Amino acid sequence: MRAIAEAPSKVILTGEHFVVHGAWALAAALPRKVRVEVSESSHLRVISDRPSSSKTQGLHPILSVVEAIGREFSFAPHLSVTISSEIPEGAGLGSSSSTMVAVSAAISRIHSLGFKASDIIRFSMVGEKEVHGHPSGIDAAACVIGGVILFKSGNAPKKLSFKGRRSVLVAISGMKRSTRRLIRSVEGVKEIYPSLFMGLTEAASEVSLMAADRLAAGDMEGLGRLLSFNHAALSTIGTSNRTLNGLVDLALSLGAYGAKLTGAGGGGSIVAVAPEGKEKSIIWGLRRRGFDAFRADIPVSGVRSWLE
Ligand code: PMV
Repeated sequence: MRAIAEAPSKVILTGEHFVVHGAWALAAALPRKVRVEVSESSHLRVISDRPSSSKTQGLHPILSVVEAIGREFSFAPHLSVTISSEIPEGAGLGSSSSTMVAVSAAISRIHSLGFKASDIIRFSMVGEKEVHGHPSGIDAAACVIGGVILFKSGNAPKKLSFKGRRSVLVAISGMKRSTRRLIRSVEGVKEIYPSLFMGLTEAASEVSLMAADRLAAGDMEGLGRLLSFNHAALSTIGTSNRTLNGLVDLALSLGAYGAKLTGAGGGGSIVAVAPEGKEKSIIWGLRRRGFDAFRADIPVSGVRSWLE
């Protein structure tokens, strides 16, 4: 018998970094997913199709998640864990969170632990802390809950309800970056300019609440304006760079309503929203310039697991 879990990727629409300092942020689960298969074994082994995980270092956070669950529920973690993923790594699309979430959900399934969403998030965070140092938890929450969520540390995530589908565009810069390093450098900005940083955090929080409202209403133009506003704040705290600014400008010049870096920045991806019917030409325009770009329809469901 084996347990399978599939978790979606995610995109942060507004509020990243500021969410680590108490702001509301808005995130959506995306269709590209990770699949994890877990079965009983004579010892713990993790097999992954990810290039970074082929190094032992890349597997450490996953092993920590498995061991933490084993410790709390008093079983020896003798499991075989196989990971296959469609999520690009280091692109700010939640590749590592999605993997931890799927691993936690699959273990809960195989050992009949009955994990609730909050348990899966808690155990996924064990591995995320190893990767990021000081994560807010938004990535894991988006992958577990699915749909579109408003997230603030210490509060239960709020899932948006809206009728119909929306789409977002994602373009991957191809630049790898370290979320841990970027979180630290933002902490440095906060230390130097505490009151300015507090003002930006409050503004980002307000932007996220307004963006949730615009998205639910289907006002993509209004949402786009808020994305661009948020990009300016993220640039102010040093998380953008010339490549990301260039990608944002390119998306806007191709007709997007608004665009911004998504996730930690310093590389990774941008997210944009566009008028209906314009998405295809914007994606082709981005691809012609050599960027991997795709349209994602939302909402998509959160982590799912089953036995086979
Ligand atoms: O590494 P990413 O792209 O998933 O970024 C995570 C978002 C941050 O706000 C930078 C960190 C966090 O945990 O909230």
